[in-house]
Amino acid sequence: MTEKSKIFNKKILVTGGAGFIGSGICETLVNQNNEVVCLDNFITGKKENIAQLLDYNNFKLIEGDIRNIVDCQLAVKNVEIVLHQAALGSIPRSIKDPVTTNAINIDGFLNILCAAKDSGVERIVYASSSSVYGDADGLPKVEDRIGNPVSPYGLTKTANELYAKVFSNTYGMKLIGLRYFNVYGKRQDPFSTYAAVIPKFISALLKHESPIINGDGSFSRDFTYLDDVIQINQLAAMSDNPEALNQVYNVAAGERNTINTLYELLIQNLSTFDNQIKNINPIYSAVRQGDIPHSQASIFKAQKFLNYQPQFNLREGIKKTVEWYVKHM
Ligand SMILES: NC(=O)c1ccc[n+]([C@@H]2O[C@H](COP(=O)([O-])OP(=O)(O)OC[C@H]3O[C@@H](n4cnc5c(N)ncnc54)[C@H](O)[C@@H]3O)[C@@H](O)[C@H]2O)c1
Repeated sequence: MTEKSKIFNKKILVTGGAGFIGSGICETLVNQNNEVVCLDNFITGKKENIAQLLDYNNFKLIEGDIRNIVDCQLAVKNVEIVLHQAALGSIPRSIKDPVTTNAINIDGFLNILCAAKDSGVERIVYASSSSVYGDADGLPKVEDRIGNPVSPYGLTKTANELYAKVFSNTYGMKLIGLRYFNVYGKRQDPFSTYAAVIPKFISALLKHESPIINGDGSFSRDFTYLDDVIQINQLAAMSDNPEALNQVYNVAAGERNTINTLYELLIQNLSTFDNQIKNINPIYSAVRQGDIPHSQASIFKAQKFLNYQPQFNLREGIKKTVEWYVKHM
């Protein structure tokens, strides 16, 4: 990544900035001398994720809700770029509570678009998701071949992409959507009922408990390391290639690993800190509703238009992630 494609000296709003991905983005941007505004209602985000930033005078926290237009209007004041991460994540949670998922992910997104439009924000980069591929079959997933959403969460991200297209066509706004694939790294919450697989497994193993694998472990995912997600947010925000604008991009490592492979890597890395972990076996249980068997991204489009180059494969990313959790748990 060149210096030109990093964000320096800008005023940026990061919605959901106290969450897992948002706090990583805020940290990087504060260190690059930007003025960073974080808007978060702490529904899943945590104060401790941004505690280290609160003392910086180029970081401002607005405790507010994207469902409230006034909060959005306040947050976008004088902002040049919006990196929109706020959403209610998790497919199972959206199946349990589609109403809240819809209100945050669609109404909230629309509020951010409207507030940004009215205050003349130059560019919005927003988090979409691999879940927009829904029931489309065939691997790797290519941006222009999506299926029907198979969960309320997937539907909300599809709706975001449609709204983004309408806002760019109707109001001339500059928007870029990033379809994240299974992101992992430091500060991902291991304790929520809807925790993602990597922090959940790490926290169980550190307590010498057997992680539960849904299915037989043969399902596979394109696991994406947090730093690569931060990289592409900056590339998308700074790109001066007109062809790159008003598009959606897969964000992934571009490789596929099974849950069993992931488990072995975690055991290998954690055993170097605690030898007893190497004897822990997982418990295999039923497949979860809404889980697709395999997922892998084509990252060709992001490479071509945004110069995205993932820096971490699963082996490298897991090593760094485990080091962080061992220190912080
Ligand atoms: N983590 C992944 O693997 C993954 C994959 C695909 C897409 N995404 C998307 O990336 C984004 C960030 O995800 P994450 O993993 O960091 O999740 P997260 O839950 O850690 O972060 C989301 C943040 O948004 C905040 N938020 C939620 N509703 C809000 C509201 N109404 N007003 C203000 N703030 C609100 C939460 O408090 C939290 O801090 C989300 O849009 C998510 O859908 C994540």
